[in-house]
Amino acid sequence: MLEELGKLHQEALSELSDANDEDTIRDLEVKYLGKKGALTALMKGMGKVAPELRPQVGQKANEVRSAVRERIDARRAELEALEIQRLLDDPHFDATLPALKPKAGSLHPVTLITEHIEDVFRAMGFYLLDYPEVETEEYNFEGLNIPATHPARDMQDTFWLNDGNLLRTHTSPGQVRAMAEYAPPFRAIFPGRVFRYESTDASHEHTFHQVEGLMIEKEISVANLIASMKTLISEVLERDVTIRLRPGYFPFVEPGFELDIQCQVCQGKGCSVCKQSGWLELLPCGIVHPNVLRFGGLDPEVWSGWAFGLGLSRLVMMKYQIEDIRHLMAGDIRFISQFRKG
Ligand code: FA5
Repeated sequence: MLEELGKLHQEALSELSDANDEDTIRDLEVKYLGKKGALTALMKGMGKVAPELRPQVGQKANEVRSAVRERIDARRAELEALEIQRLLDDPHFDATLPALKPKAGSLHPVTLITEHIEDVFRAMGFYLLDYPEVETEEYNFEGLNIPATHPARDMQDTFWLNDGNLLRTHTSPGQVRAMAEYAPPFRAIFPGRVFRYESTDASHEHTFHQVEGLMIEKEISVANLIASMKTLISEVLERDVTIRLRPGYFPFVEPGFELDIQCQVCQGKGCSVCKQSGWLELLPCGIVHPNVLRFGGLDPEVWSGWAFGLGLSRLVMMKYQIEDIRHLMAGDIRFISQFRKG
């Protein structure tokens, strides 16, 4: 056994001296020291060694293991030094050039803005909630005061699933889910992806992001709603922007408003994003309809609420002056890497 260990030692050293690249060194490492390597295989025969010789054999095996390990490390260092020397000897190699920077990942602009909005609302005492993308017809429509026969169903073309459920067309179903889940008064936002079966253009996607906001109190005011919307926009865009408020119809709010923003891509002059109008629909909102409160289990005589449904993808476009919404979900790393923080 001692003899065999000595032979293995010699073989390993001689093969390592001939190893001229990392792949060969790694193969030899596995061959001699690996779990299924030659040394382990040899030690399996320890049972056959006379008991009085075992300590000596064990010690020799340890010495061989250490010696081979040392030779492997030394051979690696030698090869590395040779490689450095080869580079330095190359007349085209300039050791004074700055090194290549490792490529760092970056957050998607939608994630950056979502996190910003979450910070703004968390500071105002809002819960941050998350609701399913696959919804029931009941929550996506009926609970929001949009019965099957209601013409408002056509406002949002729907991806239906075979089991009768659907991909949520907006984040508003979270309103009724939150009312059923939390005791009033409370305030919450719920950002997420929504889906619409519609053709795309510079400001319309089939899959885009919204952030819903909901505040339930005993007494609520339109003034407070509008003030919160203004805070939201100025905090996120970090610049003064012109907005306009006009009446808007949504079955789940009364009164309802449309808050538009002056297009930041063309500064209101007219472009493909705002369809030459200079304005972009961004932030519909309103006072929660009594039927919706009732569906969520709240008594409209006691409780009232406001809600908004921010077009998050469009806010991202406005913040970074992106001229086509389809860049956002296209997965092009060259686009996404422009939004690295700091
Ligand atoms: C809604 O989705 C309502 N649930 C919003 C709401 C919530 C109203 C709470 C009142 C109270 P609307 O379909 O208008 O509304 O969509 C809201 C916002 O999402 C729009 O203002 C727009 O900014 C954005 N949006 C709508 N369709 C698209 C689309 N196809 N692509 C990108 N953004 C869109």
